[in-house]
Amino acid sequence: MYVCVCKAVTDKQIKAAINDGVNSRKQLFQCLGMGGECGKCVKHVRELFR
Ligand code: FES
Repeated sequence: MYVCVCKAVTDKQIKAAINDGVNSRKQLFQCLGMGGECGKCVKHVRELFR
């Protein structure tokens, strides 16, 4: 499932990044390049971090 439509980032990619040691939203957005367009994915990412 796409979490970030603008940058075509899936929930699997996000979970993999978290497993690889990404521990903040900021870091995640930096490494996947997401969050900078429409911002719709930000809320979803917040939930994934719980
Ligand atoms: S859905 Fe992620 S920036 Fe638009």
